[in-house]
Parts: sequence; structure tokens; C-alpha cells
Amino acid sequence: MKKDRKVVLVGTGFVGMSMAYSFLTSGGVDELVLIDVDKEKALGETMDLQHGLPFARNKIVIKTGGYEECSDAEIVVITAGTAQRPGQSRLDMTAVNANIMKGITENIMASGFDGILVVASNPVDLMTYVAWHVSGLPKNRVIGSGTILDTARLRYLMSEYLGISTNNIHAYIMGEHGDSSFVPWTHAYVGSKCLLELLDEKSKDLNDLNEIYHQVQQAAYEIINRKKSTYYGIGLALNRLVQTILNDEHAILTVSAYQEGEYGWHDMFIGVPAIIGHNGVEEIIKLPLNEVDQGKFDHSASTLKEVQESTIK
Ligand code: NAD
Ligand code: LAC
Repeated sequence: MKKDRKVVLVGTGFVGMSMAYSFLTSGGVDELVLIDVDKEKALGETMDLQHGLPFARNKIVIKTGGYEECSDAEIVVITAGTAQRPGQSRLDMTAVNANIMKGITENIMASGFDGILVVASNPVDLMTYVAWHVSGLPKNRVIGSGTILDTARLRYLMSEYLGISTNNIHAYIMGEHGDSSFVPWTHAYVGSKCLLELLDEKSKDLNDLNEIYHQVQQAAYEIINRKKSTYYGIGLALNRLVQTILNDEHAILTVSAYQEGEYGWHDMFIGVPAIIGHNGVEEIIKLPLNEVDQGKFDHSASTLKEVQESTIK
């Protein structure tokens, strides 16, 4: 029997613990189990979080455990693996993290887990593929954090540029969570106004927006060079994804989802806008991409597919 609102976190590093910490302030999770290959680290993190419970939004059972804890979890979030070092791209971590992901997924499934698997370890599109392949779970129940973080970075920077709340910026980063991502600008809206029309009206230049995209694409490198890793943004993004599933919100998020030809590609995971609810990916939103944007999607997908076929198949 699945326990409602029970979440297991595998990987108690910076990313995993940023998400875990955010559960104390957001509420919405009833039980949180922390697992890490470094058991002492998982225990230390558990104790530290437990001491924050008197200030938490709701009561949460927080504990350390083994993989048997996954058997009745609604969601297992995987943030384990090595993190990028300065100068490394996300794709450079494929081989080493794929091995880690395979072992973890086998352990999760051996428990009898039958919930939703959320993956954030990098390169996230490929690690989500590994988790899906090894788990044997239905495609809708394995979700990568994809370009949720990239989209959040874009919305933040566009909001600063336009002087309009992030809540009213409807623009997506699609493709690989990595260097080959792109923004389909013709599908970007501010409130219900087409972004390109708004730029025209305000005599603003699309080049400024392309520069904003460039900042998003470089954001992780810029942060890693300064503080070695990124975690608050992705921690909050994972919280959002988890709550969207637990609350069956049917919100649209740019996740890494299994492709069955929606954008012309098959048997891979890549960042696309999708409706997220209790069943995981309820539906992929198919945007009619123009020729240039379809070209960018194809470039991103082929970059991922090449590494998928050479390194993890
Ligand atoms: P970290 O080194 O702080 O934490 C990784 C944790 O994984 C460590 O506690 C380690 O002990 C654990 N671990 C390693 N192998 C394990 C195994 N076999 N079983 C269980 N636990 C294991 O790294 P981090 O900064 O938290 O980053 C974690 C991952 O998240 C990295 O791959 C990073 O690139 C990725 N990341 C993704 C996004 C995104 O948007 N998807 C954003 C930031 C970071
Ligand atoms: C990010 C990580 C490193 O912050 O993927 O984008």
C-alpha cells in the first residue's frame, strides 16, 4: 500500500538537501526518507533537518533508511552522483553517473517500488533514460527535472528585463538540460500578449532576449566557477515538481519526458513542456515549432541521442 505524501530522496548532497530543506518551509510532504551511499552523511543531514521541525510548516516524519523504504513511497527523487567540476560539461559525466544511476534504480525497484521516479542527476536527460530503462516503469512515471531550472532562470531574467512579474512570463527553454537547449520565442507570451509583439511595441530588440538566453545557457558554468555547484534553484524546482505530482495540479512544467514522436524523436528523454499530475507526465504539449526552432530541437535531440547510443546503450 502506497503512503500518500511519502517521498524518498536518494543522494543527500547539495541538490537533494536543498530540496529536502525546502519541504520544511513549503509543507506538503508527510514523510521524507534520506538515503545516501555515505550513510553517516545521510544520518547527519537527517538530524540537522529534524532540528528544524519545530519551525516547519507542518509535521514531517524525517528519517534515514535503506532502499526498502521505497516500497510504499509515492515519489523517489534521485539526486545522487558526481557533480560537475569547473570546465566540465554535463555530458562529460555520462558514463560515471550512468553506472551510479543503474545501481540505484535496481535497488529502488528491488523494494517493490511502484510510484513516480524523479531524476535530477546530470546529464539529466540521459540519466532519466537510464532510470526508465532499468526500472521498467511506464514512461509517464519516470520524469527528469529537464529544463525546469533553465526555464526558471529565463523567466527570472526576462522579468528583470521587462519589469513584469515572473508569474506572467510564459516562455520555455526546451531541449537538453545543457548546452544545446533553446527558446522557441514565437511561443513566448507575457500575460496573454505575444512576446514578439510586445518587444515591437516597446521598441525592444530580440537580440537582448537572445543575450538573456545566452546568460541562461552559461548560468551553471558561471555559478560553478564561483561556488563549485548549483543547488538552491534546482532544490526549489524539484520541490515544485514533487508538489505538482502530489497535488495532482496538472501544471505545465518543462520536464525531461519520454519521446514518442511528439517532436519527431523516439526512445529518448528531452526537455519539453508537459502537463504534470498524479500520474506523472499526463501529456506532452506539442508546440508547432517553426523550421528554425525544429532545427534547434533536432540538433539538441541528436546531441543527446549520440551520447545515449555511444555511452549508455
Ligand atoms: P553532491 O556531490 O553534493 O551530492 C551527491 C550525493 O550523491 C553525495 O552525497 C554522494 O554521497 C551521493 N551518492 C553518490 N553515489 C551514490 C550512490 N551510488 N548511491 C547513493 N548516493 C550516492 O552533488 P550535488 O551538487 O548535490 O549534485 C548532485 C547531482 O545533481 C549532480 O549530478 C549534479 O550535476 C546534478 N544537478 C542537476 C541539476 C539539474 O537542473 N538537473 C542542477 C544542479 C545539479
Ligand atoms: C545547473 C546544473 C549544474 O545548475 O545542471 O544547471
